[in-house]
Amino acid sequence: MASRQNIVQRIATLREQINYHNYRYYVLDDPQIPDAEFDRLFRELQALEQQHPELITADSPTQRVGGAPLGEFKPVRHEVPMLSLANAFDDIEVEAFDQRARTRLEVEAIEYTAEPKLDGLAISLLYEQGELVRAATRGDGETGEEVTHNVRTIHAIPLRLLGKDYPGLLEVRGEVYMPRRGFERLNVEQEARGEKAFANPRNAAAGSLRQLDPRITAQRPLAFYCYGVGRVQGGKLPGQHLAILNCLREWGLPVSGEIRQVQGVMGCLDYYRAMAPRRATLPYEIDGVVYKVNSLAQQQALGFVSRAPRWAIAHKFPAQEEMTRVLAIDVQVGRTGALTPVARLEPVFVGGVTVTNATLHNEDEVHRKDVRVGDTVIVRRAGDVIPEVVSVVLSRRPAKTAVFKMPKQCPKCGSQVVRPEGQAVSRCVGGLYCPAQRKQAIKHFAARRAMDIEGLGDKLVDQLVDEALIHDVADLYVLTESQLAGLERMGDKSAENLIQALEKSKHTTLARFIYALGIREVGEATAQALAQYFANLKKLEQADLESLQQVPDVGQVVAESIYRFFRQAHNREVINKLLEAGITWPAPVATAAAQTLAGQTFVLTGTLQTMTRDEAKQRLQARGAKVSGSVSKKTTYVVAGSEAGSKLADAQALGVKVLSEEELLKLLGQSL
Ligand code: IVH
Repeated sequence: MASRQNIVQRIATLREQINYHNYRYYVLDDPQIPDAEFDRLFRELQALEQQHPELITADSPTQRVGGAPLGEFKPVRHEVPMLSLANAFDDIEVEAFDQRARTRLEVEAIEYTAEPKLDGLAISLLYEQGELVRAATRGDGETGEEVTHNVRTIHAIPLRLLGKDYPGLLEVRGEVYMPRRGFERLNVEQEARGEKAFANPRNAAAGSLRQLDPRITAQRPLAFYCYGVGRVQGGKLPGQHLAILNCLREWGLPVSGEIRQVQGVMGCLDYYRAMAPRRATLPYEIDGVVYKVNSLAQQQALGFVSRAPRWAIAHKFPAQEEMTRVLAIDVQVGRTGALTPVARLEPVFVGGVTVTNATLHNEDEVHRKDVRVGDTVIVRRAGDVIPEVVSVVLSRRPAKTAVFKMPKQCPKCGSQVVRPEGQAVSRCVGGLYCPAQRKQAIKHFAARRAMDIEGLGDKLVDQLVDEALIHDVADLYVLTESQLAGLERMGDKSAENLIQALEKSKHTTLARFIYALGIREVGEATAQALAQYFANLKKLEQADLESLQQVPDVGQVVAESIYRFFRQAHNREVINKLLEAGITWPAPVATAAAQTLAGQTFVLTGTLQTMTRDEAKQRLQARGAKVSGSVSKKTTYVVAGSEAGSKLADAQALGVKVLSEEELLKLLGQSL
């Protein structure tokens, strides 16, 4: 049996170790042991405390969540008022601040600290003999609210300071904030629970700290950085701000690693310019940087003016959120046919630019935020991100507003708009015809694995569409050499080549043609399966949902997409124009009648004379054969064209029968 003495000793050791590892993790950002090891120490302490409840102390790391919910928040008077900061919005205002301070101090240049201005909420932490005894919000600067029970749940805040040389009474001040990742996760959880999402990490942090039930706060991903001290008794602190922060860090309090000592106003502005582009990449939100006179003696000499120190200033980044009014909600059609509602806004300066549009993402988003024409909204533009509507200011909603409705017809081409079940995106199904989808559709049509129109690259498609020479894929086949030769970077020879390539592309296969139409959900394999099953374009066009689903691998979603595509008169028109232009393919062999090669596996290698390998593959598959990419003992035949490579050697090594092109054609029922 362990003696009581041993248990007391073990508990003390465990607490010390846990506090130290917490410090490595939260303050130094350099954990020394794996999480599992930490958990083991923690559980051992929990177990010992459970067996000996009389040994539990309030500063034990197990005691972060305790007690019942509060009925109300108690007011706390700040003996040293919690001041706010004056703001500077540009270099000139920062220079003026520095000038005023230098004049008062009668010095040439001032040494400053420059630090991130965290976007959270200010908190005061009172440590007595190293133990956290009280935490309070800033409130109006004179009186705040006691939130000790909630602050204790924040793991980055030590319940007991490390070391011994801290002042007997130490009031630490800093910012409680919510890191971006935690914020995003919290909002996902909020929505899953059917609760309202928080508009930004700052609101989320404030809402989490102002909870009467600490068990809720304990589940919120809050963090903390300190940036100064309030009351100090029974001990001395260094005479420079940065040196004080370094002491705090040694006592186990988290201090931002981004704080720098800088010289003069130039040093401040350099820091700002280095920080601005990094803003979006930091794991937490900052709304500016703070410059503070480093010397406490100088700070004292400067003093305060109306609730703000003369020795510090916040240099703000351009606001990322502003209020404005929704003038209209338009619907944009993307190159894939996706419909995006966009709020047209009264111009507003936000995130450093004037914003007139903000994306509303999709129909569900508009309804979730309930954005209506006439509403006053909060618009956000962070970094280079597209501006978005964060929320509606409901108190400013005018009378008689209408709920947003997604149009049933594409605003660009009038084709049907569909939103497949379970998906957030609504789409225009006029793929071949819709001007918004034109370029994408034509590029896909021309691609090597589709119609294989050599020389018709993306840039050329852009040019042809921009110059209004083509409106849809069928227009490609009426282009003339002289029209082409007139284009930028297009000589007579390339024009002639392109016309030839277009001619050549007219001889294709049904599978390629179906694939080239760019029907949503129809990739190469599905196009192949459709060609094989229907053998004829008319039958495919007229197929109902049921027969479409008979095709191998075609489920309900794919079937619906195909069905809808062919129901669009515009799409059928373009197809007819293509056929009139002379696009043809060899009549595929009726599927059921010709499974003469079922159960046989072919490998194709080298160049064939009468067809491409792709065509050969399709014809073989049409007769039930499997076509594989590598030779094995299971291969029935290797078909070798000219310049056959290693696959021919593999066949010979494995004793697999090799066929010539002529023999292949015989098998397929045709002679060379
Ligand atoms: S110093 C007397 N330093 O900004 C100086 N404040 O606008 C008082 N804040 O209430 C504050 N980061 O919540 C200081 N590095 C920083 C800060 C910071 C964020 C907040 C703090 C304060 C507000 C003033």
